[in-house]
Amino acid sequence: MPLNIPRTIEWVENKVRLINQLKLPYALEYIETGDWRRVAEAIRTMEIRGAPAIGVAAAFALALATIHSSARTLSETLKELEECAEALKRTRPTAVNLFWAVSRVLDEARKAAEIEDLRKRVVETALMIQRIDEEANRMIGNYGEKLIENGDTVMTICNAGSLATSYYGTATAPLYVAQEKGTKFRVIALETRPYLQGARLTAWELKQAGIEVKVVTDNAIGIVMQKERVDLVITGADRITSKGYVANKVGTYPLALVAKEHGVPFYVAAPTSTFDLSIEKGEEIPIELRPSEEVTLMFGKRITPEGVDAIYYAFDVTPPKLITGIITEKGVLYPPFDKSIKRVLL
Ligand code: MRU
Repeated sequence: MPLNIPRTIEWVENKVRLINQLKLPYALEYIETGDWRRVAEAIRTMEIRGAPAIGVAAAFALALATIHSSARTLSETLKELEECAEALKRTRPTAVNLFWAVSRVLDEARKAAEIEDLRKRVVETALMIQRIDEEANRMIGNYGEKLIENGDTVMTICNAGSLATSYYGTATAPLYVAQEKGTKFRVIALETRPYLQGARLTAWELKQAGIEVKVVTDNAIGIVMQKERVDLVITGADRITSKGYVANKVGTYPLALVAKEHGVPFYVAAPTSTFDLSIEKGEEIPIELRPSEEVTLMFGKRITPEGVDAIYYAFDVTPPKLITGIITEKGVLYPPFDKSIKRVLL
């Protein structure tokens, strides 16, 4: 499935090359670095974002750390790698894919017999994580496409697109497969305050791919569902518990409530690396609290009076009772989610 969308992150000659997503849609600029700390910084500042993409970025950061390490023994190299892993885990707390990727790389590194073996294992595991993600997205696309019919309007929030993953995206993969099959549909993207991932990123990548897209403000979902025909909502996810509570970009929960009120099916698309079976309830998911200035300043200009701060939870949690189905690379899971999730993941 050829898409007219550049790859979000790549491993090129022992360096990491990633699209600086803060520059989109005005400029397509890349960050190229051999320094794992620069990759950690890119995750923290959201130059790269999206649950699967930050998992891949963290794995590549670990690969950089081992390649450029000056440690002389295997145990020193491993210790350095573990310190780097801890720093990466502190960048963003909600998306479990980052933690999943870091622990997969560390598990593999611990099997190494000597330094060169460790480097090889770490780089190969990081590349494999990227490959697995791309393949999972293609499968999500194949399963999710069946939900989209000719003439449909699909609503989405944030960017759970190719830019947020290795390729194809999660919520967008069904759209790309449907387009390939010749299905005619359009997309409504919520702009997604304050980072505007919907307006800047989803609109950009769907336009690149030739899919009709319109943007609405986040507070317009009620009137848009009343006035426009919305057939289906598909969102991404940052962490899904064993009982089917879904953390995703802030605004997803109200979107699910409005969809329920209007009888619009609400689907979540996510690879199995987004599931966290160690927790059950929504309250157990760590929700990232980001700096107040990211809300009170717009394009560098203050929009609230001096002295008035904002509360900025970057994610919210949608309960399973509002979710119609979860599209994974292993098929579409339906309620009761505690049973369907276990059946597919354990
Ligand atoms: O803060 P972000 O931009 O990293 O949040 C991204 C989302 O919430 C996405 O919907 C989610 O990570 C799924 S990406 C395939």
